[in-house]
Amino acid sequence: MTDPLFDIGGKVALVTGGTSGIGLMIARGLVARGVRTYVSGRDAGRTAALADELAAAGGHCVGLAADLADAAGPGALAQALSAHEERLDLLVNNAGANAPGDLAGMTVADWDLVLNVNVRAAFFLTQALLPLLRAAAQADDPARIVNIGSIGGLHIPNWEAHAYGASKAAIHHLTRSLAKALGPDRITANAIAPGPFPSRLTDTESDAVRTSVAAHIPLGRPGEADDIVGLVTFLASRAGAYVNGTTIPLDGGYIAAL
Ligand SMILES: NC(=O)c1ccc[n+]([C@@H]2O[C@H](COP(=O)([O-])OP(=O)(O)OC[C@H]3O[C@@H](n4cnc5c(N)ncnc54)[C@H](OP(=O)(O)O)[C@@H]3O)[C@@H](O)[C@H]2O)c1
Repeated sequence: MTDPLFDIGGKVALVTGGTSGIGLMIARGLVARGVRTYVSGRDAGRTAALADELAAAGGHCVGLAADLADAAGPGALAQALSAHEERLDLLVNNAGANAPGDLAGMTVADWDLVLNVNVRAAFFLTQALLPLLRAAAQADDPARIVNIGSIGGLHIPNWEAHAYGASKAAIHHLTRSLAKALGPDRITANAIAPGPFPSRLTDTESDAVRTSVAAHIPLGRPGEADDIVGLVTFLASRAGAYVNGTTIPLDGGYIAAL
């Protein structure tokens, strides 16, 4: 039997970028816990196929396509979700992009891509989904926004990642301003700042990441699916209902040990 403190069965969740890496880990974990889960990605066919694969294990998962680099993407995604659901208990702003980030070579197009996907889309998707979040919000069980930031927004790594780092520091800060603005509506906002997790963005098998993990992470390993699913489940459940406006490093102690 599931401990009621951590039971999230029957909730409705949207995970942006739920087609790969950390977002896919979160989506799979939510579906397995009885959450009506929606995942977004850019390609309609690929996103739908992935959602079908997640639902096939038993549960509810639907794919919704949207390009969140596009100014119209967040509104279109919110509209697509509204066709399926009248409330949203959990919004996970996870979709993320990176680009070559060195000071000399940075282009405006690359800067815009990173900032638009990592920050602008999260803000305007939240804005567009406020009616559904408010419909789910209750005093003892708030609606939850979980923004996926990064330890890259908490420290300066040994390589240049100016746009990515700035975007992640910005989403951490935005999380606090959303927490203040939406708390009275019984909607919480928290950020998770992961260290290295296996994904398309991060090849945890590469020499560079292995060396970094060995040098910097006291627990000596990259993150795994249960690590991120456990924290999202906590934040989405009764157990996490009073946590608001925080950025939680999920990094095996990387930031603590700096
Ligand atoms: N992995 C890590 O080590 C790590 C560490 C710290 C923070 N993070 C953060 O975790 C989040 C997930 O990243 P990941 O590492 O799991 O990377 P990933 O495997 O590349 O996944 C990125 C996800 O974002 C979606 N996405 C990318 N650009 C998009 C766009 N323009 N419009 C809509 N969706 C878009 C992708 O969907 P499609 O390709 O299907 O469109 C994909 O599902 C990001 O916010 C990232 O910054 C990751």
